[in-house]
Amino acid sequence: MGLATRPGPPKKGNLMDRIRIRGGNKLNGVIDISGAKNAALPLMIIPLLTPETVTLHNVPRLVDALRLQRILQNHGVDITTAGKRAGQAGGAGETLRISAKTIVDTTAPYDLVSKMRASFWVLGPLIARMGEAKVSLPGGCAIGTRPVDMHLQAMEKLGAECVIDQGYVIAKAKKGLKGGHISFAKVSVGATHAALMAAVLAHGETIIENAATEPEITDVAECLVKMGAKIEGIGTRTLHITGVTSLHGAEHTVIADRIETGTYAMVAGMTGGDVTLRGARPDTLEDVILTLRRAGIDITTTNEGMRIKRNGSDILPVDVTTDPYPGFPTDLQAQFMGLMTKAKGKSHIRETIFENRFMHVQELARLGADIHLHGDMAEVRGVAKLTGADVMATDLRASVSLVIAGLAAEGETMLHRVYHLDRGFEDLEGKLSGVGADVTRIAGA
Ligand code: EPZ
Repeated sequence: MGLATRPGPPKKGNLMDRIRIRGGNKLNGVIDISGAKNAALPLMIIPLLTPETVTLHNVPRLVDALRLQRILQNHGVDITTAGKRAGQAGGAGETLRISAKTIVDTTAPYDLVSKMRASFWVLGPLIARMGEAKVSLPGGCAIGTRPVDMHLQAMEKLGAECVIDQGYVIAKAKKGLKGGHISFAKVSVGATHAALMAAVLAHGETIIENAATEPEITDVAECLVKMGAKIEGIGTRTLHITGVTSLHGAEHTVIADRIETGTYAMVAGMTGGDVTLRGARPDTLEDVILTLRRAGIDITTTNEGMRIKRNGSDILPVDVTTDPYPGFPTDLQAQFMGLMTKAKGKSHIRETIFENRFMHVQELARLGADIHLHGDMAEVRGVAKLTGADVMATDLRASVSLVIAGLAAEGETMLHRVYHLDRGFEDLEGKLSGVGADVTRIAGA
């Protein structure tokens, strides 16, 4: 077994940084799983609902988390950090003490929201606590158009008046929000967060039907309950909320990142070897674990987390369709495609959540992958050999699929636009080097 990895400070995400991968090494050892980005971001937003301090442990050191800190500071939120210093052992991330004692500004400007979509989620808490909010529309992004219509419908059901003016959502509920019946036409993580964050302080009862059940929603709901919110049905498609007049401070530890876990499971499955993912929560990845087992990867769940092994056996082709939780996550689709490029046969990967989440296909092809797109379905014919090349990251998960393929490719792969990775993978090169991969960050000029 190799040494446990150690958390370092968040990378600056220099536009010109590259990652060089020399493929072919089997990986052995322990990787510590970080706190989930997609839980940490909404958890950092909910302190807007209370004048008291919320303490979050295990916040991953990521560019997105830093960016959100700046956005929250713009609203007047005080954030202090107390975490392990770089080089200290253990997988725990940072501890943030977040205090929104006084909200000085209810506007979230375009230049901040456009850099990170999740910051749009300040809308719900700002209306709930302040009775007004002016938040820039986030705009589209590489993986799709990503509208926010359901967020606005939810706010309106809770009694807010929303207008769109010059690219901003201007929402008002001068007499406060009131409980309502929200029934989402489709499952949305963001719209569920928005509805939940607003309903906890609304007068009366709210029912949210067709709610997202992603573990990150559950983590946020559990923190809200610690803050005094009344929520029933957590983890199910129907949430019942009884509004309270105020919330108080709380202390909460961010759940382990299931997407980072699934990614490293696919890395180890691709390279072969024996890797323990310490701190992983296998109960949040059941569909992924079943899929990887069908692909010939040996996964055992242990007290520590998960152990991933593949020694000599082939990678088998498996068909996958992305779906809201508990289905196969869209955030692991690109990585799974990376794995399937070396499978012994043909697999089909269907993306049902985002209409444009196949940007990695062209880049995987540069490494020798054989992939054909048919609408929302990719047909992947496994190849015997991938060969290193220069490739370019287009979004967070797409870029890590190139790392997976690069680790199995012959020769050298140079991954450009590494800043995408820095948004969502804490110390990727440190974690991979710690288990024997030849992965080096080359600082940009
Ligand atoms: C969250 O995005 C995640 N982001 C995404 O993570 C993830 O891919 C996605 O959920 C799906 O699991 C964070 O948690 C910060 P959605 P979100 O609303 O909430 C449509 C990553 O790599 N929709 O669940 O924005 C939407 O277009 C990422 O970490 C509407 O039509 O996703 C999509 O087709 C990127 N109207 C579907 O719903 C709306 O008002 C699901 O999107 C809202 C969404």
